[in-house]
Amino acid sequence: MINFDGTLFHLRTRGTSYVLRVLDGHLLHAYWGSSLRQPEVLHLGVKRDGSFAPIFTLDGETVSLDSLLREYPDYGRGDFRSPAFEVEGSDGTTVSCFRYVKHAIQQGKAPLAGLPATYVEAPEEAETLEILLCDELTGIEIILSYSVFESFDAITRSARFVNAGAAPVRLLRALSASVDFPEADFDFLQLSGASARERHIVRQPLRSGVQSVESRRGASSHQQSPFVALLEPSATEDRGRVYGLSLVYSGNFLAQAEVDQLSQTRVAIGINPFNFTWRLNPGESFQTPEVVLIFSNEGLGGLSQRYHRLYRQRLCRGVWRDKIRPILINNWEATYFNVNAEKIEAIADTAAQLGIELFVLDDGWFGKRDDDRSSLGDWTPNLKKLPSGLPDLVRRINAKGMEFGLWFEPEMISPDSDLYRAHPDWCLHVPDRARTESRQQLVLDYSRQDVCDAMVDSVSAILASAPIKYVKWDMNRHMTEVGSARLPAERQRETAHRYMLGLYSVLERITTAFPEVLFESCSGGGGRFDAGMLHYMPQTWTSDDSDAVERLKIQYGTSLIFPTITMGAHVSACPNHQVGRNTSIEMRGHVAMSGNFGYELDLNRLSDEERGIVRRQIATYKELRGLLQNGIFHRLRSPFEGNTAAWMVVSEDGSEAVVFHFQVLSRPNPPSAILRLRGLDPEGRYRVAELDRTFGGDVMMHAGLQFPDATQDFSSHMWHLTRE
Ligand code: DGJ
Repeated sequence: MINFDGTLFHLRTRGTSYVLRVLDGHLLHAYWGSSLRQPEVLHLGVKRDGSFAPIFTLDGETVSLDSLLREYPDYGRGDFRSPAFEVEGSDGTTVSCFRYVKHAIQQGKAPLAGLPATYVEAPEEAETLEILLCDELTGIEIILSYSVFESFDAITRSARFVNAGAAPVRLLRALSASVDFPEADFDFLQLSGASARERHIVRQPLRSGVQSVESRRGASSHQQSPFVALLEPSATEDRGRVYGLSLVYSGNFLAQAEVDQLSQTRVAIGINPFNFTWRLNPGESFQTPEVVLIFSNEGLGGLSQRYHRLYRQRLCRGVWRDKIRPILINNWEATYFNVNAEKIEAIADTAAQLGIELFVLDDGWFGKRDDDRSSLGDWTPNLKKLPSGLPDLVRRINAKGMEFGLWFEPEMISPDSDLYRAHPDWCLHVPDRARTESRQQLVLDYSRQDVCDAMVDSVSAILASAPIKYVKWDMNRHMTEVGSARLPAERQRETAHRYMLGLYSVLERITTAFPEVLFESCSGGGGRFDAGMLHYMPQTWTSDDSDAVERLKIQYGTSLIFPTITMGAHVSACPNHQVGRNTSIEMRGHVAMSGNFGYELDLNRLSDEERGIVRRQIATYKELRGLLQNGIFHRLRSPFEGNTAAWMVVSEDGSEAVVFHFQVLSRPNPPSAILRLRGLDPEGRYRVAELDRTFGGDVMMHAGLQFPDATQDFSSHMWHLTRE
């Protein structure tokens, strides 16, 4: 997997080569793309004189730092492009000169201290290269770490800074990875949106200069995702070169591409340098988050399938990683805050009769919380709403044949709470400045150990009080007044990252203490749907927009990186609460079954006919969920390009598939809805249950399947294929 021939490092997965070169102390990037038998075709970078950049001779060639393809570029000696990192020395300057010192190659992959990361179950699954760079003057060392997951076709990168010098320094910038390409003929793809409109696909040609996406919100955010892909302009779903960089981190991030004067591209990703510094005293170290690099020569579909496999099997953890996930019903859109034991039981009775397996009690069960103005932090059951107590409610739900799950928002504090009255300095704040409330709440200061300990204790006490089998971990505002009462002035700009480290430690402790509990993360919908959170919680509430039409785009975009099993998706009431749209219950069911399936409405308000449909949906999902949750996902038609959307899931062995086709609006005399399927066995014959016919796998992939014309708006089909 990793070879070193004295100058070239060749990192090789099944389909990818990634090549580095050591030349006269410089660590250079040589190649990333389809796998090479022998790395030979190497570019030092375009050579031009007279561009105002200093030049020198390297390997007999005249080169400039400003155009060399560099692996982890420093700042200050003539590379005027964006550096991967910046270290401020004790003299206040940021000039540095990091040179290759040595390297080591080992089987396996070590965990990243305090941070989420991909992992191995056996040392043979990955090989790790560590390269030591050092700045002689300051004594600062950087250990660049590369792990090669050969069979997953993925390479992970991170960097560790060690102050082996005698004086303190400050990191002003410490990105996780930077990659230089000798060309700029790429599209830049990002996943962008807003609350209730997350992860829409935006694809644009690269242009000269810097283009970036970032979050300064203290969370990965609804607005931008910590992910970027570069695509050759002709790349499609199943063809073309695509390079993905996905950051395993849930806080402020920056992902950028910079096209230089010579049409070369530098792409980089990591913690956002905005409002970030980190003081490193002698002997201290700083670990950057991990970035997962995936190259696909089979377009975006190939990229997604590689991310899905790695994230499902070697990022997510715990007993639920490989278990079939239950069908849940959540009461939020049925009751909002106006919840009590009687209403819960009424919904649960019907849910149980219809075959639903888990009841999730959402916001409003604790403290004196009747609206969003109070009680966050006071995690004790509200006995006015649950008169016989939480354990008794759980017992009653269990007696109906369902498991019980509970909502928390443990990173927040309401100014109107006993916790705030006792500890007014436990929130993020800046002394003498007003504390800006959002949704009437403040953010707890998870950079403090005492706050983290208290939250572990209060969540654990509730989880230990009753057989709670599921937790929805919510987070409903972004950070303002980012400062900590516990940190000295020179460390205040460490607060946002220290918060993330605190959060990850809390999640590690709680999920380890309650290994049987299924955790779902949430942030006002999908505001923190990222690879960092998935390491602790194997599913995420995809969006607060539960409208089936809106969800087509949200789920399609999310599927670029994340597998269906991670995407919470619920059937909700009509008219839809977010957009007021009326869609068919069939379409709502099909969209939700395309993710991790559940319901979020008052089942007792449905007509008998609708309840009959729900009963059948549940039975169908139970029959097919092994395939739907763990199969190979193929996008077939993009909702961003028209009136239809389609995708399918195929079992690993190709013996079974489910195809979903959606038509948003009906049209007179529409063009025929032929859909070319993907991923089937071309030599197999498949029975399409809904048509009671068989077709060759090759026929369905090359000639296509014809879907019936829609005769009304919001129509959908779900066809089940089995190989004969
Ligand atoms: C935001 C979540 O996304 C919703 O599903 C719900 O849990 C509310 N918070 C509760 O306040």
